[in-house]
Order: sequence, then C-alpha cells, then structure tokens
Amino acid sequence: MHDNSKIVADDKEKFYKLLLTTLEGLISSENDSLANLSNSAAHLFNNLENINWAGFYIMKDGELVLGPFGGKVACTRIKVGRGVCGSAARDRKTYVVPNVLEFEGHIACDAASRSEIVVPIVKNDVLYGVLDIDAPVFDRFDEVDKLYLEEFVEKLNKYINWDELTRV
Ligand code: SME
Repeated sequence: MHDNSKIVADDKEKFYKLLLTTLEGLISSENDSLANLSNSAAHLFNNLENINWAGFYIMKDGELVLGPFGGKVACTRIKVGRGVCGSAARDRKTYVVPNVLEFEGHIACDAASRSEIVVPIVKNDVLYGVLDIDAPVFDRFDEVDKLYLEEFVEKLNKYINWDELTRV
C-alpha cells in the first residue's frame, strides 16, 4: 500500500520536489499507462492546496477527450483552439490564466473556477493531450507552479506510453 498522507513542506519548491519524487515512486513500478495516469491525477488533486480540479485531456481523433481526473464532473470533449485547454494544445505552450473570467472562450466546467494552468503533453514532437488544473481563487498559479508542473509532465513522459491512450 502506498503512503496516502498529504505532502507537507515549508515552501513551494520543496513541496514540488517531494511531489515529483513521490510521483516517481507511484508510477515507476507499474506499467499500465491508464493506472499510472489515474494515480497521477489523484496525486495532484490530493496534494495541491487551493484547487478544485486536476486532470488530463487526451488527444483522440483530433480533439481533446476527458481522461483521468480529480474533481467535479467535467466536459468530455474540447476542440483544439477552444478554451484554455484547447489554446494550450494548439500553441503547445503552457497557459497560466490568473482570471478565467477574463479569458476569451473559457469553458466553465465548474462555475467555482477562477484561475487555471494548462500544460501541454508533447513527446517526440507529438501532442498527446494536456494537464489541466483549476483553482477556486484568482491568481493561484505562478512561474514556480509552471516550472514544476512542466517537470511533472516530463516525468509522465518517461513512464507513460501515450500511444496506448490516444488515437492521434
Ligand atoms: N476550463 C477549461 C475546460 C476544462 S475544465 O475546467 C475541467 C478550459 O477552458 O479549457
């Protein structure tokens, strides 16, 4: 059984370093990609403070389709270019949105969301999906979150066989 206690750290960098180490512990000994992605979403949702949704949208037949997540039920399909998720997928760059109410085309799955970060999942130049995290407070995510959540996706790239999960 894994240790399910919450990560405690005195600053954000230490928190993220622990989050990444424990992620590796969670997914390195299992080779089923869906199981690993599900635990990765749970790991984020249960450890990040002040968030209301954390999970994945996976590219299938040219659009983003809901994958493993923690939080309230969400929209199942997002077109590339639409909302924050679709914009990050289209541009293949991380979007940090301090106020989603001001983001043109934001898709409000949970009306409580106020800020958001979306990290694209790209491996060997192929777009496989996005990691999306929503917060019920404005301005929740900064450059430190961006740096380490991009590393989080890099770590997933090392262990997850995206081709098993996508239909690109
Ligand atoms: N807010 C996102 C949609 C996904 S949900 O928040 C889970 C967006 O505009 O892309």
